[in-house]
Amino acid sequence: MNSLASALAAALALTLSSGAAQAQMVIKFSHVVAENTPKGQGALKFKEVAEKKLPGKVQVQVFPSSQLFGDAKELEALLLGDVQFIAPSLSKFDRYTKKIQVFDLPFLFDDIDAVDRFQSGPQGKALLESMTGRGLRGLAYWHNGMKQLSTNKDVLKRPDDVKGLKFRIQASDVLEAQFRALGSNPQKMAFAEVYQALQTGVVEGQENTWSNIYSQKFFEVQKTIAETNHGVIDYMVVTNLKWWEGLPADVRAGLTEAMAEATAHGNKLASDINEADRKRIADAGKAKIQKLGKEDTAAWRKAMEPVWKKFEADIGRDLIDAALKSNK
Ligand code: LMR
Repeated sequence: MNSLASALAAALALTLSSGAAQAQMVIKFSHVVAENTPKGQGALKFKEVAEKKLPGKVQVQVFPSSQLFGDAKELEALLLGDVQFIAPSLSKFDRYTKKIQVFDLPFLFDDIDAVDRFQSGPQGKALLESMTGRGLRGLAYWHNGMKQLSTNKDVLKRPDDVKGLKFRIQASDVLEAQFRALGSNPQKMAFAEVYQALQTGVVEGQENTWSNIYSQKFFEVQKTIAETNHGVIDYMVVTNLKWWEGLPADVRAGLTEAMAEATAHGNKLASDINEADRKRIADAGKAKIQKLGKEDTAAWRKAMEPVWKKFEADIGRDLIDAALKSNK
């Protein structure tokens, strides 16, 4: 090769390698809910801010509604590196740590503000790090809201009204125990399958937030929604620890900032979205919204109480007490 040819070859190699160094990183964020929900909005905000903070460096692809991975696969896919961010509900981590089960204890938190105080406190923050031994790094908590109970029956006011009924539950042993305590038959099922299961009568009821009941159209295939506020559906945004720690420092910093902005944005919207969706459901006039009196709520609380004892040792009394303290 003459000297001009080798100079050209060297220049080409340099161009190619600097091109490769600047190649845009594609980052996938997969979740199971619709876009018009708190989590859906949080994920879109994360994409917007991350791409603004890291121009040309990252492209964030968001896959809502179980399009890429559903409940059964998303954690596994994250660990395999097929997706970089997911935000499962806190109920879906019990194969990875028993501690996070604290969030599923019925009637533990008075409202979403109490949940927020617990998550922002030392015990809540520590839970973000509780699965690093399993290769998962928690980056943030995202709110959805309090759970309501629905069935395809006309009467849903007291615990006796759900005896013997089949309920869809998230994959959580605490939730299974909760419905057993009520004398119902719980069935673990992926979120994407719930609408059809309710429509065909495979299950007769479910528990969820207003935003999920609205965006998944559960209210069209249920007769009554009791306003129980008996538990919470919130999320932990998790990433693959090894991938996260291997990122160039500037990319990790930019993504961290984008996550903080997306968290603030989604958490601010969550209550309003749930409130608006409650109203949309009421206005649609398909499912009746059953309000509960003090005594009704006390009856649900009492019926679900045995669950606490059953999981206290796994969760740890200290965590339960810290969560209780977050109620004002
Ligand atoms: C459910 O499975 O009912 C919820 O966890 C779905 C979600 O992500 O809000």
